[in-house]
Amino acid sequence: MGMFITHYIKGTQWTHPRTGRKKIVDGDLPSGWERCVSDDGKVLFVDHTNRTTTYTDPRLAFATEYRDMSQPVRQRFDGSSTALAVLYGRDLRDKVALVTGANTGIGYETARSLALHGCSVVLACRDIEKTEEAIRRIKCEKEGVNCRALKLDLSSLHSVQEAVEEFKKSFKSLDILILNAGVLGIPYQLTNDGYETTFQVNHLSQFYLTLLLEHSIQKAANPRIVIVSSESHRFSTIRNLEDIQQSRLSPPANKYWAMGAYNDSKLCNVMFAQELAHRWPTVSVFSCHPGNLVSSSLSRYWWLFKVLFILGRPFTKSLQQAASTSIFCATALELDGVTGGYFNNCYRCSPSSASLNRSLSLRLWDLSQEMIINVTDMAWNQDCVKD
Ligand SMILES: NC(=O)c1ccc[n+]([C@@H]2O[C@H](COP(=O)([O-])OP(=O)(O)OC[C@H]3O[C@@H](n4cnc5c(N)ncnc54)[C@H](OP(=O)(O)O)[C@@H]3O)[C@@H](O)[C@H]2O)c1
Repeated sequence: MGMFITHYIKGTQWTHPRTGRKKIVDGDLPSGWERCVSDDGKVLFVDHTNRTTTYTDPRLAFATEYRDMSQPVRQRFDGSSTALAVLYGRDLRDKVALVTGANTGIGYETARSLALHGCSVVLACRDIEKTEEAIRRIKCEKEGVNCRALKLDLSSLHSVQEAVEEFKKSFKSLDILILNAGVLGIPYQLTNDGYETTFQVNHLSQFYLTLLLEHSIQKAANPRIVIVSSESHRFSTIRNLEDIQQSRLSPPANKYWAMGAYNDSKLCNVMFAQELAHRWPTVSVFSCHPGNLVSSSLSRYWWLFKVLFILGRPFTKSLQQAASTSIFCATALELDGVTGGYFNNCYRCSPSSASLNRSLSLRLWDLSQEMIINVTDMAWNQDCVKD
């Protein structure tokens, strides 16, 4: 056991010689103890109650895992880990989770993995029949799993409101919110609310969903929010404040490019996570990338994507593996008290520099609120706070 004082964290740090895991001790000494420095400059700990003196810091008995995320931490999982491996040994019976787009693909594997570990899972999807079928499949695997379907069509802000009202009738709090639903490569179409569909489904409606669920989330003990983004966010060409405007995020038909719209929406996901982490410090908020060309229904809207996804299939993650990073962000104990990171392969990575630009994130937040107010015509603060 090696122990040393580090001025950086202003405490004593203990590094396990074999695993490299770091522990820290901080806070006050136990009652009756005093820290002294001997004549030859050594640090001593004196226990006045039992009249003993030792060189060992008594707080080592209560050492906690070192969670300064700017420092390297030991990686428990990687790109080949499955969601169920991440959850191995975990009992989530006291947790409630809501997963959007959980009837198929990565969202289904995410919901299924949580449910198999005892979590109460709400599958929030637009097609209730498909969702009930997904729940039937999970129930066939294990008796007593606690899943329920919630109607949520992300192309309608009104549907988001109804879904939240419905959720609140049955649940007092929400421990885990996973914003997973998404569309890629759809032809140009406006939603009934008048916004470009990729932007509304991938960002705007899920932004709204989160804000409407604020009270349920804040009531949970250690709540977490995971926003499923993509490495595609790096290809967004949004760079400055002028780029963050309604005409860019929800453009007219002649300025629309499906892939560009997807990239922008995925950048919005990371920026939303970063800003939410600032605004809700008691909630752990993460964004993540599930994997490349993971074989799901995501490619369904364009034949070229279908071909690409099929070609990539032998080399890419399974759906279980693709769900692992969302599950890691939603449940890993080493992330307790951590917030605001972007994860890939169950490991924290740097997102694009645009996503770390606070003024861009602030502008996106304000614009998203404005766009919602324009449609719902609601007094934001009153209705958001209402339970
Ligand atoms: N697959 C990949 O390689 C990959 C890579 C990077 C990031 N991602 C991200 O991972 C997430 C999950 O994608 P996936 O690959 O699992 O795709 P998927 O199989 O197509 O699943 C997408 C889910 O979103 C739902 N959805 C779409 N439009 C909706 C709407 N208007 N309202 C409510 N739900 C809606 C879908 O419901 P329906 O079944 O009813 O359409 C489905 O449940 C997405 O955010 C995606 O951007 C995927």
